[in-house]
Amino acid sequence: MSVEIGLEQNPGDAFRSTVRLSSGDSPRLEFQTYTAYLRTNPSTLAEVGRCPEFDEEDAEAAILAAHTALATFRTVPPRQRSRILRSWHDLMMENIEDLACIITSENGKPLADSTTEVKYAASFLEWFSEEAPRIYGDTIQASNPSCRLITLREPVGVCGLIVPWNFPAAMITRKVGPALAAGCTVVVKAPAEAPLTALALAELAHRAGVPKGVVNIITASENTVAVGRVLTTHPMIKKVSFTGSTAVGKLLMKQCSSTLKKLSFELGGNAPFIVFEDADLDVALRGLIASKFRTSGQTCVCANRILVHRSVYDRFIELVVDAVKTFEVGDGFGDKTTHGPLIHQRAVQRVDDHVKDAVSKGARLLHGGQRLPLGPNFFDITVLADMTPGMRICHEETFGPVAALFPFDTEQEAIDLANDCEVGLAGYFFSKDASRCWRVAEALEVGMVGVNIGAISDPVAPFGGIKQSGFGREGSKYGIDEFVTTKMVMTGI
Ligand code: SIN
Repeated sequence: MSVEIGLEQNPGDAFRSTVRLSSGDSPRLEFQTYTAYLRTNPSTLAEVGRCPEFDEEDAEAAILAAHTALATFRTVPPRQRSRILRSWHDLMMENIEDLACIITSENGKPLADSTTEVKYAASFLEWFSEEAPRIYGDTIQASNPSCRLITLREPVGVCGLIVPWNFPAAMITRKVGPALAAGCTVVVKAPAEAPLTALALAELAHRAGVPKGVVNIITASENTVAVGRVLTTHPMIKKVSFTGSTAVGKLLMKQCSSTLKKLSFELGGNAPFIVFEDADLDVALRGLIASKFRTSGQTCVCANRILVHRSVYDRFIELVVDAVKTFEVGDGFGDKTTHGPLIHQRAVQRVDDHVKDAVSKGARLLHGGQRLPLGPNFFDITVLADMTPGMRICHEETFGPVAALFPFDTEQEAIDLANDCEVGLAGYFFSKDASRCWRVAEALEVGMVGVNIGAISDPVAPFGGIKQSGFGREGSKYGIDEFVTTKMVMTGI
C-alpha cells in the first residue's frame, strides 16, 4: 500500500491548494491546504507529501475563525453536537484503511498498529458523542433558605490543542471530541512530524457536518514555536490542552500565564513496571510486550524501568529475550514487520545515548543495543539487565525500544525505586496477592496504574498524570470537565 499525494493550485480560494490522498487505486481522502513543507516517511525517507507551513498571522486567522464560529456552535443543541461527533466517528471507521495508511506513511508504525490507532481514535469521538447530551450541573441548597442555587456547565470557549506525533489521530480526537461535545471550538496545532493525519481528520470532520470554523488545523514545522506562542498567549484562546514533553509543557505553561488560560497537560512519563515474586510470569511478559514495545517504545505510558524481584529475575530476563527475538523490525508497510522505526534521528540518538550510558555504568547488554542498517531511524530492540539507580534511564524517559531491567529484593524497595522520579504518569505491577495489589496500587505515585495488565488505554478511562507528568484528565466522564467552566446562579426571592 502507498499514499500518493498531489498538489493542485487553487488560486483565489482561501485555501491555496488541494491535496489528494489515495491508498491503492482509488483516491478517497481529499483536502485543501496552503503552501507546503516536506514530510518524509521515517522508514524510507521518501517524500510522503507537502504540508502547509502556517505562520503567526495564519494562527491568528484560525483563532479568529474559531472565535467567530463559537458564538453559534455553543448554542447548537447537545444532541446535534452528539450526532456530528458520531458521524465523524463513522466516517473514520469507513476510511480506516486510508487513515491507517497515512499514519504509517508519516509516523512509521506498522500498518496493523495504525489500524488499531484509528479505531482507538474514533472511539473517543464515539464516547464523547455519548457524553455531549449528558453534561449536568447541580442544584445546591443555599445557606439562605430563600435563595435557590444551581450550577451551569458552559463551554470554556476557543481551545488551543497542541498534539504529538506518536498517535497523530488519537491525540487529536481525545482532545477535539470533548471540546466539541462541550460546545467549544478549536484550533489544533498538528504535529510537524505527522500533519497529514490531522488534515485528513479535518476533511472527515467537514464531511461529518462540523460547521465551518469549529475545527481549525494549523500545520507548521519551522514555525512551530512561533505558532505555539500565538496559541498560548492569544486572549481569544481560553484553554490550552497539550500532550508532549515536560520541558515544553513548562514553557507553554509560562506563556499561558500571561492570560491565565485553563490548562490540561499530559506530559512525559517514566513508567515503573514491577514484577513481584508471586507474579504469573507469562502474564507479566505479555503486559511488558504491550507496554514497553508499543509504537517501538514511543508512548508516554511505555514501561521505562522494569523492576523484577531477584527470585524470578533470571527467569524473567530469559522470557523477555526469547520474546524480543521473535520481533521483526522494519518498514511499517512490511508484511512481517512487528515494530517500525523511530520518528527521527534525534530520537535514535537519545536511545543510543541511554544504552551507552547504561552499559558504561555496568548494565549487561542482552539483546540489540545498536542502530540497524535498515535506515537512519532504526534502532534494534534492546534488552539491558542489571540496571542501577544513577543511570540516565532511571530519571529520563527513553521513548524507544529499550527494556531496562533492575533487580529488587523487597516490596518497599520496589515502591521506593518506582517513586524515585519527578514524573508520575503510568505505573504497572504484577502480583497474585490481592492485598498487595491494593497496597501497591495506592502506594505508586502515578496517575494511572495497571495491575496485571500492560495495556491501560481506553476511552472510558481517565488518562493523565501527577507530579511533573502534568494535570487534567483525558477520555472518560472526566474528560469533559477540562472543556467547561462552572457558573453558579443564585436566585433570591
Ligand atoms: C501518549 O503516549 O501520550 C498516549 C498513549 C495512549 O493514549 O495510550
